[in-house]
Amino acid sequence: MEEKIITPENAQPEKKKKILSCIQPSGIPTLGNYLGALKNWKLLSDEFDSAFAVADLHAITVRQDPKKLRQQITEVFALLLAIGLDPEKSIIFIQSQVPAHAQLAWILNCYTQFGEMARMTQFKDKSQSHADNVNVGLFSYPVLMAADILLYQADLVPVGADQKQHLEIARDIASRFNGIYGKTFTIPDPYIGKQGARVMSLHDPTKKMSKSDPNPKSFISVFDEPNTIMKKIRSAVTDSEGGVYYGEGKEGINNLMGIYSCCTGLTMEQIEKDFAGKGYGDFKNAVGEAVVEELRPVRERYNMLMKDQAYLMDMAAKGAETASRIADRTLHKAMKKCGFIVK
Ligand code: TYM
Repeated sequence: MEEKIITPENAQPEKKKKILSCIQPSGIPTLGNYLGALKNWKLLSDEFDSAFAVADLHAITVRQDPKKLRQQITEVFALLLAIGLDPEKSIIFIQSQVPAHAQLAWILNCYTQFGEMARMTQFKDKSQSHADNVNVGLFSYPVLMAADILLYQADLVPVGADQKQHLEIARDIASRFNGIYGKTFTIPDPYIGKQGARVMSLHDPTKKMSKSDPNPKSFISVFDEPNTIMKKIRSAVTDSEGGVYYGEGKEGINNLMGIYSCCTGLTMEQIEKDFAGKGYGDFKNAVGEAVVEELRPVRERYNMLMKDQAYLMDMAAKGAETASRIADRTLHKAMKKCGFIVK
């Protein structure tokens, strides 16, 4: 057989790896969402084939006001563009506009064990905080998340640390399905940044910063004005010890150092050095200013984008069309393997 000689002309370029991630439109996104996930999405989108979605189907696992939900879906979609994601390079879409997500989720439900879902810590937490509405959607939420990821054959999923358990279950479901039917899904790896993976509440630094926290002082919204950001950081709970260094019992300072590190690129050691002998007042001012500068371009672009709703909806429709093409391919493959007659 004639030997095939690889030349620059016929060489198969190494296939770009794929990433996918989503964010729920269940409130105003926080600095935690931004530093733990969104900032990495933008960085990775330059290097990978990428898809990002507003996970609106996930949001109704908790009761939502329809008018508010519609508004928040638009806001979060605008935010994805405002952080600098480029719709020419990345697929940016709204989950409910791509029916394959719900369809694959149903199939994967049948390859997921009750006991696996019952172990999920987020389910346990949320069924306590929403005890009057422990619905089946809340229970099988990680299966829908697995469908989101597997439809795009994602290699990497950039998330904050709180999503790690959901990523593990997505891997388990994919491996199980592949084990029964042969390779159907790529097994995804989580991508969790070194800093910012778990931004804590400013009011109680032992708790995750969350957009659903009823105390608005506990989180910084990505749309907060500079003076609000400064005020919130200045009133962040710290300790009475007074030194800016990373350590046990200093959760408040550790958290502010993590935030500062994400915004400035400085390491913890550099921060300790820069603030040696200085008080918390100076440090908090520096953190506040760094956060203001980090979020300024995002807020400015967001405010511009929100003035053009027709453009946003047009971008969403285009994103959903491209996403559907990819998602349907995987869905049909999985359906055929199960024995369905695919049109
Ligand atoms: P959601 O909407 O709660 O959060 C979006 C992203 O922000 C990260 N995050 C944080 N990171 C650091 N510190 C915090 N305090 C913080 N709070 C939130 C989250 O880890 C997440 O990466 N289930 C997901 C949405 C989802 C999804 C998916 C993610 C649906 N389908 C498929 C990845 C792949 C969620 O509720 O994220």
